[in-house]
Amino acid sequence: MGAALSGPQTEGAYRKDGKLENIWDTWSDCSISDFYNKVGSYTGNDFYEKYEEDIRLFKSLGLDSFRTSIQWSRLLGQDEKLNEKGADFYHRICACAKKHEIELFMNLYHFDMPTYLFQRGGWENREVVEAYAVYARTAFREFGKEIRYWFTFNEPIVEPDQRYRTGMWYPFIKDAKRGMNVQYHISLAHCLAVWEFRKAKEEGYLLPDAQIGLINCFAPPYTREDPTPEDLEAVRMEDGLRNRWWLDLVTKGKLPEDVLETLKKCQLEPDVRPGDEEILHQGMVDWLGFNYYHPARVQAPKEKTDENGFLKFSDPYVWPEAKMNIYRGWEIYPKGIYDFGMKMKEEYPDLKFFISENGMGVEHEGRFRDASGEIQDDYRIEFVQEHLEWVLKAIQEGAQCMGYHYWGLIDNWSWNNAFKNRYGMIEVELMNNYQRKLKKSAKWIQELIRLREKKPIEETMVSK
Ligand code: BG6
Repeated sequence: MGAALSGPQTEGAYRKDGKLENIWDTWSDCSISDFYNKVGSYTGNDFYEKYEEDIRLFKSLGLDSFRTSIQWSRLLGQDEKLNEKGADFYHRICACAKKHEIELFMNLYHFDMPTYLFQRGGWENREVVEAYAVYARTAFREFGKEIRYWFTFNEPIVEPDQRYRTGMWYPFIKDAKRGMNVQYHISLAHCLAVWEFRKAKEEGYLLPDAQIGLINCFAPPYTREDPTPEDLEAVRMEDGLRNRWWLDLVTKGKLPEDVLETLKKCQLEPDVRPGDEEILHQGMVDWLGFNYYHPARVQAPKEKTDENGFLKFSDPYVWPEAKMNIYRGWEIYPKGIYDFGMKMKEEYPDLKFFISENGMGVEHEGRFRDASGEIQDDYRIEFVQEHLEWVLKAIQEGAQCMGYHYWGLIDNWSWNNAFKNRYGMIEVELMNNYQRKLKKSAKWIQELIRLREKKPIEETMVSK
């Protein structure tokens, strides 16, 4: 049981100690009104200053592990040399986690491209893929004896979607072909990093039991109850592009043939070059992180193309019985976590995984404060409990699920939603020097963990 967070959403200190500008800083600088309440990337939740207090809090709740990410823009300078002060910050985190017996899960990339590389074309440019491999190699060598669990990317599907296909995020591009190339180049970057990891291990830079993984948001795809063949085709491509793409890559070292064929027919195939096959083959990992928030419900597209003239593989399907998190617009469907666990068991039985993110963001949580000032987030307790029950069922039925990390254990900066939706079991008081304060759910999870230590997990589920 652990906590998931990320560097760019927590650290703040965006210009401190030689940190370079990243794409979030650039977007914040050029259009602050795009961010909820005009809160840009600058301060995170003050983790740069408060990391020790936070890690101590994790320990006091009984958690055994914590994921964050190194910011590329903090670790390296533009000359690709180590920024000593940036490195020192991450060394201090490692030492602190060790001192408090918290296992650190370190991710290398969480949507946070350094701006100078973005200006060279970002993930559209293969030189940036090479630069990422240099960054990964440097990180493995620098922290290899301090970190056991490494991850190449968090949610590699998100930037192709948000920045290049739907154009919701800076630089607001709506181009399916460019999006496909970005998805493909990130896949290559993942593989090169795994390659670097294996080399670093052979050369003795890493702990002997160090592991490498990939984290993605997988959404089990569903469609209407009586699907037409076209609905099923929509499911095939949804599953193919978002789930199987990464699952095949990390278990077989290649991308799904049927998906590549369909992309080719639609002239959306990525720019594959000689030698890529060998690179892709390096992509196999030791385990996988599964971020789960909501299912994907799709149906056959009504129109063949979208408003930009690009071919559509599916339309959203609104399930009449869906229960929604209205603040985020995401469906809450706890059984999806089990269905995906079963999919893993059937289709990728050798791959171990853990729930690397799961959480609920709610707006205006101040209205749930009791007389003592504590936020009574019963909705969050219910959300986590229901998901954990389905995780447990999956484990009992043979899924190789190794654990659970709650996303946003401490309120943190949610990209352009800034601090609109709070995910934390620990509140951050923005107007009070980012002070941390337990919500009801923090005490609940503490009790859950305490009871689990005494009883078999099946008997552990405590009521709210
Ligand atoms: C995941 C990301 O997609 O969901 C996190 O890994 C993100 O970075 C989390 O914060 C919750 O989404 P959001 O957009 O509400 O912050």
